[in-house]
Amino acid sequence: MEAAAALAALGLLLLLARPGPGAGVRRGGAKMFLEKYGYFDEPAPSGPTSEQFAEAVREFQWVTHLPLSGVLDTSTVHQMNRPRCGVSDAESHAAWAERVHALLSGRRAKTRRRKRYAQQGGKWYKRHLTYRIVNWPWYLPQHQVRLAVKAAFDLWSNVSSLVFWEVLDSPADIRLAFFHGDHNDGLSNAFDGPGGALAHAFFPRRGEAHFDSDERWSLHSGKGRNLFVVVAHEIGHTLGLEHSPVRSALMSPYYKKLGKDFVLSWDDILAVQNLYGKPSKGSAVRLPGKLFAHFQDWSPDFPDDDQLQGSLGSYYCQSFFDAITIDADHNLYIFKGHHYWVVTKGGNATDPQLLRTRWAELPAGIDAAAVSEADGKFYFFKGGRCWRYKGSALEAGFPQKCSTRHPDAALYFQQLRHLVLFKGPKYYVVSEESLQVEPYYPRSLRDWNGVPAGVDGALTQQDGFVYFFREDQYWKFDQAKLQVVATGKWAAQLPWIGCWGRNSSQTLF
Ligand SMILES: *[C@@H]1O[C@H](CO)[C@@H](O)[C@H](O)[C@H]1NC(C)=O
Ligand SMILES: *[C@@H]1O[C@H](CO)[C@@H](O)[C@H](O)[C@H]1NC(C)=O
Ligand SMILES: *[C@@H]1O[C@H](CO)[C@@H](O)[C@H](O)[C@H]1NC(C)=O
Repeated sequence: MEAAAALAALGLLLLLARPGPGAGVRRGGAKMFLEKYGYFDEPAPSGPTSEQFAEAVREFQWVTHLPLSGVLDTSTVHQMNRPRCGVSDAESHAAWAERVHALLSGRRAKTRRRKRYAQQGGKWYKRHLTYRIVNWPWYLPQHQVRLAVKAAFDLWSNVSSLVFWEVLDSPADIRLAFFHGDHNDGLSNAFDGPGGALAHAFFPRRGEAHFDSDERWSLHSGKGRNLFVVVAHEIGHTLGLEHSPVRSALMSPYYKKLGKDFVLSWDDILAVQNLYGKPSKGSAVRLPGKLFAHFQDWSPDFPDDDQLQGSLGSYYCQSFFDAITIDADHNLYIFKGHHYWVVTKGGNATDPQLLRTRWAELPAGIDAAAVSEADGKFYFFKGGRCWRYKGSALEAGFPQKCSTRHPDAALYFQQLRHLVLFKGPKYYVVSEESLQVEPYYPRSLRDWNGVPAGVDGALTQQDGFVYFFREDQYWKFDQAKLQVVATGKWAAQLPWIGCWGRNSSQTLF
């Protein structure tokens, strides 16, 4: 195990032994560890004893289904580096044990929360609670964030006696806010950019949930972290719920994608009913995840959004895109949500166009796109399916099932005269005709010396270099040397991407 990872993990464990939101740790080494170690809300005792430390390790291992060794082994450290909620797991075991005990003894244990937990979880002593969205990531439309947040509260009110309503300006019981890095919750709870800790919340009755504004939030099932899922999880904490060891539970400490399954597991429902009882009228309503995949990333009917007004044309410049490709005439295509933009050779971008006006059958939020240099056909990938178009005409037999599910990016690679699909730490060479993976693939991304995992898109530019994109960064790959030769911010540094001249009134990233 790397020394830096171990130190960072130690920082997390020390926090686990304490109340308040703990911090998820992904990056950072000794320096971060020292900061974590040096800061505590309360007068710190001289440091946790080795017994407290082992207990914290065991608590963490318990909630993550690892052997309860109390020792910081490789698998424990590995588990600690996954994207998660920043709230500590320290009381989760006790809360869960209590819930199971209540279940087995056939009654609710809500009256019997022992003193030790009351401090940590706590509850609200009223059923009607107000909430307020203090701010939101500027690249997401406000009214859709509002819908997603409302749905997240409804999840909980639909299975309990709680009722929520939004207030705009007045004080609210529960406040949701997006913050960058250190935000006065203590250095140990500073956000760490994409990945790592996504959010954290305070137990009742502080009623606050904080989200990392540098995370790539999204409101659909495509790339990025699903904001609806994370908001719903953090609301759980503001209501007094601890982390759950049940893997399918919304209150599991690890980020879960929005799937087809129920968003709330039986354990989540039990937990909230333990504190607040069943719905006062009617029975609990629980809906599957696929119904919440519809909060769109962007739609043309929100020019009411002040922040974006006047710059709708270049919206992709200030945000992340789903996919990018280039055609034989050197027109660039940039895809995001329901829309695409074309940037001509001179760097002029069109206004956003609806995908369905050009490719009628294509769903929103595609995973990857590429144009074949051999015949100029467009290939699109989303989930387990792919589409092939000649112009605007979908070819017979498409969409079809494709072997590489959810590719990060697609590239027509001239040297191999094949399509290449990138996915995590691997890449696949795919036949244009059958779209099946060629023999001897996938191979490790290490073949593409310097290209990071999880790219959003890739294309071969007129200058002969292959460009890879991830979030706001690009990597320029030299086909002769087979390695990355430059990297930077695409919106500001690549004139051909169409963002120059658009940035006079906006700050780019
Ligand atoms: C809550 O219940 C209502 C009425 O039964 C339903 O229309 C709504 O979709 C449910 N919302 C959630 C998030 O479960
Ligand atoms: C780009 O647009 C500007 C303003 O509309 C125009 O003056 C310029 O000629 C265009 N450039 C190209 C290469 O099309
Ligand atoms: C846009 O930003 C880039 C990088 O900061 C800069 O080089 C370029 O001149 C800017 N364009 C305009 C029109 O401000």
